[in-house]
Amino acid sequence: MDSLSSILKKVKQLDPIPTVIHKVLDLADNPESSLKDLVAVVERDAAITANLLKTVNSAHIGLPVKVDSIQQAVSMLGLQQVVEMVLAQNLGSNLKRSQKGYGLAKGDLWCQSLTVAMVARTLARQRDLMSLPAIYTAALLKDIGKVILHAFVADQIEAIQQSVARRGMSFVEAEKEVLGMDHATLGGIIAKQWHFSSHMIYMIENHHLPDPAARNDPATATLYLADMVAMMVDTGIGVDRLAYHVHQDVFNDFFPDKQQLKSLMITYKGLQREIQGFFKAD
Ligand SMILES: [Fe+2]
Repeated sequence: MDSLSSILKKVKQLDPIPTVIHKVLDLADNPESSLKDLVAVVERDAAITANLLKTVNSAHIGLPVKVDSIQQAVSMLGLQQVVEMVLAQNLGSNLKRSQKGYGLAKGDLWCQSLTVAMVARTLARQRDLMSLPAIYTAALLKDIGKVILHAFVADQIEAIQQSVARRGMSFVEAEKEVLGMDHATLGGIIAKQWHFSSHMIYMIENHHLPDPAARNDPATATLYLADMVAMMVDTGIGVDRLAYHVHQDVFNDFFPDKQQLKSLMITYKGLQREIQGFFKAD
């Protein structure tokens, strides 16, 4: 079996995602839906509700009273935070493992994905973008392709790194050339298998902006920048660090003043510390 067929075969072996995620995203994206609809959808799933209440009541969140319903959680934390908690708790199972080929230890990819998702949401809010939960989800899942590709990258890391070093390719281009598949395209295939929207698939496939038109899609450009900020801050994490094209026009568009980029990097560091603290406390 060639490596491309082996890669695609593994897509079917990933843990599925709960269907409630699609319902949450649909409702969160629909201005006609009410808070009550969303609370009802989450409450209908006992496992998700129990998990969410456990997190809400954890010492890390530090609420002054015990919360025993989703409705109460929403009124204390706000809808956005509760939706993000539901997404984060139910999209991480595949991403928490170590990704050997990318030099990522257990928890590294998940921690980075969570931080990028929070930065992407912050950036999206600053630019008044709609669909914050969808952008947050795309950021959580942008590197889902690595979960499968890492074993194949490990086998071919020298060839991939040579393409990056000698031929000026980005890591994602080198993956494509050596393996016949890159982690962003594979992420799109996985998102399609999980029945995500076409825009979600597009954002994941284009989070490194291979399609020049993607920089005109504000949500995808936001995702790209949040990911680049992560790489600029986490310079020691992952074999592919900074081996991606820098699209200066997108940076200039989002950060006409360099100080804005600097302060986003500081925000990233703070969020990262918070998330790492949460993992330690868990
Ligand atoms: Fe990526």
